[in-house]
Amino acid sequence: MSGRIPRQFIDELLVRVDIVDVIDSHVPLKKMGANYSARCPFHSEKTPSFSVNQNRQFFHCFGCHASGNVITFLMDFNHLTFIEAIEELAALCGVDIPYENNTNSLAPQEKNKLLDLQQLLSHIATFYSQQLKQHPQKETAVNYLKGRGIHGETARDFMLGYAPDEWQILSPHFNTPLLCEAGMLAFKNDQYYERFRQRIMFPIRNKRGLVIGFGGRILKDDPKQPKYLNSPETPLFHKGNEVYGLYELLKKNTRPVRILVVEGYMDVVTLAQNGITYAVAALGTSLSATQLELLFRSTPEIILCFDGDKAGKEAAWRAMDAVFSVINDNRQVRVLLLPTEHDPDSLIRTEGPEAFSARIAQATMLSDFFCAHFQDTLNLTSIEGRAKLVNQAKPYLLKLADCFFKEMLFKKLHELSQFDVTPALEKAMHSAQAQSLLPPRQTKQTRHSLERLTLAMLVQYPHLIEKLNDHPIDWETLDFSGIAIFKAIVQTIQTHQPATTAQLLEFYRDKPEEKIINALAALPILVPETAVDTEFNGALNQFLVHAKQTRIEKLLAQETAVGLDAHEKAILRQLLAR
Ligand code: UTP
Ligand code: MN
Repeated sequence: MSGRIPRQFIDELLVRVDIVDVIDSHVPLKKMGANYSARCPFHSEKTPSFSVNQNRQFFHCFGCHASGNVITFLMDFNHLTFIEAIEELAALCGVDIPYENNTNSLAPQEKNKLLDLQQLLSHIATFYSQQLKQHPQKETAVNYLKGRGIHGETARDFMLGYAPDEWQILSPHFNTPLLCEAGMLAFKNDQYYERFRQRIMFPIRNKRGLVIGFGGRILKDDPKQPKYLNSPETPLFHKGNEVYGLYELLKKNTRPVRILVVEGYMDVVTLAQNGITYAVAALGTSLSATQLELLFRSTPEIILCFDGDKAGKEAAWRAMDAVFSVINDNRQVRVLLLPTEHDPDSLIRTEGPEAFSARIAQATMLSDFFCAHFQDTLNLTSIEGRAKLVNQAKPYLLKLADCFFKEMLFKKLHELSQFDVTPALEKAMHSAQAQSLLPPRQTKQTRHSLERLTLAMLVQYPHLIEKLNDHPIDWETLDFSGIAIFKAIVQTIQTHQPATTAQLLEFYRDKPEEKIINALAALPILVPETAVDTEFNGALNQFLVHAKQTRIEKLLAQETAVGLDAHEKAILRQLLAR
């Protein structure tokens, strides 16, 4: 809702707050040597492996590998968005955020308009819920809800309302241009009229509880009219970014162990009334990665629930697109297909909450669902079928973040296809350079390459850049794996001069290199703080010598194989002269 936050302001915040204070107020810390430690809040453990480094303004868990700066901590711990975390830090420091005045940011009058829209929608939600109690024709709506077994208490929790059968019931109370902008009016034959008439109203609230839109269900099924109408996209309401029921869910439990995603508003409401208070619904569109991200900020597990008919199965498969782009080892997704002819609302009424919970407990693991899809649709006994499998699975695998899940899924597909999919896909996926700097997984204790160690020291102690300022690196005379990222980090530090690791990390938030930088920030370099400068000098010189040697060898090899151009010859001459 707000504009861009200037980078400099974020830098200043990171200087003003101390990560130790912030984390300590959420998770009591104990001083242990140079660091502070605690039992990790991001996974359950008996002995503390969560550590906070005050100099680097960085936290890291040796158990679950959660890591980051104070912004990351607030985002993960309190399930906040980036902006919300900044807002919280700003509030902590008692400063206002100077939103930048670019095209994305909002001029004051636009900000006011959003506030006005938001207040208007809240008032309308209240107004509609009052109509359910007061309107002369309220009985039709009340009877409808009764007919569907909805209790008064549930209606109150979800703030359900009634839009009476009138063309202009809001207009006398609220400002027309604003109503129009809020998506409450439609325009036809030179006239504005109200979009929602003779419908049960479901206010859609964002995570913070603010009404941002509505869904409205018709009272009597009528083939000439859509069963559900939703608010159109408005400055406040973006269907692909929000889900129905999340606010109501978090009110019952701020840290649900799982969230069930169903298709309908009514499903969410009925499930909640029957004790399954952890369901949400997409807003009449297929599930987006943004919606999944939103949910994963509040829970480690999402169960996608669909009708068991053909359309439901297709919808489940369509959701895989979004799922594969957000899944990792800390996030779990399962899929639950219901018996045909049932949706959660009808099923829980038929078989009761216990049987329904048992189905949830037995929902299919993502990997099984994914593989079963191919086993069901392809003939895997033929080479042709197996080739199709690899071909069809490929776009999904390419979306996966690096994690064990990915490796295991590769293995599974290898078995199914009798073809080693890893090399082909790995190649497509990563530049060899970025890959070489990622921590090798699986093996716990690995020797770090010299360049990785040097770069890790630089990330953890950005002031070391001084050494490179005195002796600028001539990148053209070097060759080592990861040279591009090494150069990029050096340049970022030189340009922005971050005071701490925390500030440096901020430059890479949501960038492709983010993981690598985080891994480097957490890499144990096993050098006492006082010796870092000397160690860094040593490591740097040693690997520069090595990198030059490699460059010479490569150039020589190239010279014999295909020859060198004038520029390359000059570099070789320069290198050999030393
Ligand atoms: P369903 O048709 O499955 O509705 O649509 P439902 O939840 O079972 O509704 P009841 O039980 O008949 O009341 C699922 C969701 O798809 C969207 C709505 O968000 C709905 O909750 N939808 C459906 C629409 O947006 N428009 C429609 O006309 C129908
Ligand atoms: Mn239904």
